[in-house]
Amino acid sequence: MTDSTPISAGKLHGKVTIITGGASGIGEATARRFVSHGARAVVIADVQDEKGQNVAASIGHDRCTYVHCDVTNEDQVKALVDSTVRRYGRLDVMFSNAGVPSACQQTVVDFDLAAYEGLFAVNVRGMAACVKHAARAMVEGGVRGGSVVCTASRMASVGTEKYTDYTMSKHAVLGLVRCASLQLGACGIRVNAVSPGPISTPLLVALFEGNLEKEELEKRVESTVSLKIGRVPSVENVAEAVSFLASDESEFITGHNLAVDGGYIPQPV
Ligand SMILES: NC(=O)c1ccc[n+]([C@@H]2O[C@H](COP(=O)([O-])OP(=O)(O)OC[C@H]3O[C@@H](n4cnc5c(N)ncnc54)[C@H](O)[C@@H]3O)[C@@H](O)[C@H]2O)c1
Repeated sequence: MTDSTPISAGKLHGKVTIITGGASGIGEATARRFVSHGARAVVIADVQDEKGQNVAASIGHDRCTYVHCDVTNEDQVKALVDSTVRRYGRLDVMFSNAGVPSACQQTVVDFDLAAYEGLFAVNVRGMAACVKHAARAMVEGGVRGGSVVCTASRMASVGTEKYTDYTMSKHAVLGLVRCASLQLGACGIRVNAVSPGPISTPLLVALFEGNLEKEELEKRVESTVSLKIGRVPSVENVAEAVSFLASDESEFITGHNLAVDGGYIPQPV
């Protein structure tokens, strides 16, 4: 990017992007935002095939496609990246966002360690597989200015009373981002994290163990957290922050954890 780069032309103009967990919530909103910022291609990867296909169709198949990919399966992650490069010639942005909520709301004393494996397979190992194969494709393709963004959480920076497994997994995401950003900087690849505060998506409903309506969920969120900006964030707030990290506007930012949480202060839950 130079001083004369016309950012208003679309901060993601011409970029080829992948979004994991793109069938729902933050990933879906980010897919829409990437397209509105001029991305040439947005490949949504998820395990919810019908939802993912509907999202891609509603955005338009000229710019958005859906690919089934379970991030716990490294072969599928590799295939996702390789098929994207074959189809579009390059990969500029990986938004590694797929995640699952706490599997067992227990304290360290009651740990059911076996129950952790499924969550860690998605939130930690899956995230690492996406970083690994995106970086490989960017290096092999000679892409300079590649950007990888991983979804962490506010829980990546604080302890929680109940959500030990999820909190541990999101701390691990920050470790991954910090290591990868150091190791890939010389290849011209930036790696950053985005840390949303609580947002009403299916994941948060599951975290609160219920089938809550949006309003009820937001009340629940407001009663358990204190927000300096007095409202619950939206998925679009996160999507815009991810667009910034994905774009050349953040060309000198790497290894960073960008909180999008309205000034979240955790309260005991
Ligand atoms: N909602 C929140 O309050 C909140 C806060 C902080 C961080 N996050 C993180 O944001 C990310 C997105 O979550 P969301 O809130 O949009 O929830 P969501 O449930 O709407 O979206 C998560 C998506 O990930 C997909 N997914 C789950 N396992 C997968 C797998 N093995 N392979 C591929 N895709 C898989 C799901 O099918 C779903 O479409 C997650 O990493 C989550 O931990 C959410």
